[in-house]
Amino acid sequence: MAITKDSVYEALRNVIDPDLNQDIVTLGMVEELRIDGNDVHFTVNLTTPACPMKDQIQRAAENAIIHIVGDGAVPHVTMAANVRHGRGAAAAAAPASPAEPENLLAGVKNIIAVSSGKGGVGKSTIAVNLAVALARMGAKVGLVDTDIYGPSIPTMFATTERPNITTKRKLVPIEKYGVKLLSMGFLVDPDQAVVWRGPMVSSAVRQFLTDAEWGDLDYLVMDMPPGTGDIQLTIVQTVPLTGAVIVSTPQEVALDDARKGVAMFRKVNVPVLGIVENMAYFSPPDMPERRYHIFGKDGARNLATTLEVPFLGEIPLEQAVREGGDEGMPAVMRPNGGPAAEALTTLAGEVARQVSIRNMNQDSTRKVEILFKP
Ligand SMILES: Nc1ncnc2c1ncn2[C@@H]1O[C@H](COP(=O)(O)OP(=O)(O)O)[C@@H](O)[C@H]1O
Ligand SMILES: [Mg+2]
Repeated sequence: MAITKDSVYEALRNVIDPDLNQDIVTLGMVEELRIDGNDVHFTVNLTTPACPMKDQIQRAAENAIIHIVGDGAVPHVTMAANVRHGRGAAAAAAPASPAEPENLLAGVKNIIAVSSGKGGVGKSTIAVNLAVALARMGAKVGLVDTDIYGPSIPTMFATTERPNITTKRKLVPIEKYGVKLLSMGFLVDPDQAVVWRGPMVSSAVRQFLTDAEWGDLDYLVMDMPPGTGDIQLTIVQTVPLTGAVIVSTPQEVALDDARKGVAMFRKVNVPVLGIVENMAYFSPPDMPERRYHIFGKDGARNLATTLEVPFLGEIPLEQAVREGGDEGMPAVMRPNGGPAAEALTTLAGEVARQVSIRNMNQDSTRKVEILFKP
């Protein structure tokens, strides 16, 4: 019996995307189906190039062709990805209008805030490695550093290059390690910014986010300033965030602040994509099987369970991570990665996965119009 397109689609209805809980035909992921004798060619278009389930889905699709279509059918599966918009189709399709900051970021599919209540927990380290890891997996990525008092991108990418300005007076992000970058640190001397008052900082951040030419991006990662005050609220009011990643160490004081962070995002209806535990443990390089829980054990993991948000993973405390930050070579870029680099790469897949799940299940986040009534 000849192999038909119908029999192929029917077989592929048995291949379920475990995160999205639907089969890949219903999800519209099967494209360019071509049958040539026994050879069955098609593309599976996932929701992110960083999908941790990629290999599993590919194997399931191949097995469906071999065992369900049968008759000697030979699968030739191409895996591809098309990152979905984390913002409403209406917002994405709307023509750009200079008065509408939301539309200025129209080419940006997902905006991910990396946040922490407390400073020094590794928020910038996570943001930088997340951005670089996603780019290495094939996504179009931007990284914006809105921490005006403690900008990290210039050091963590070892660059002091100043962004250009277009004739329309838009900032052009610089590019390194495949990531488009903008940092307050490129424009403002942190020593000067220290004496700025809150409203000045807020308007600088607002302008900085909306007056930039990001172009088309799958993910724009935002390194947020620590805390849950004015500046953070300005940011969620300025850009339509897809979701927030909260960084904490396992330590009680950090967890208290992480809890406040989750509460803030919930209050303004920004989905919390999950909590990352940084500096989760230390393994001496000469005793890799030992784990010392210097800042406590499982604190952030337990907090995620309590608050019913996804736990995104744990990153060990590792000298190479600190050195990578200081030298401008993010851990995930280093040739002999190590456990922390591996954990950071896995984390990137996990964040991309939560973004895909979120985009499938929830309405897009709108800018917060009214926050508090007097
Ligand atoms: N997992 C880790 N292992 C080792 N050093 C780390 C790790 N995470 C962060 N650091 C270091 O800790 C310091 C603070 O991290 P940083 O990312 O700047 O924190 P934040 O942005 O939250 O203030 C930096 O020197 C950084 O290199
Ligand atoms: Mg920082």
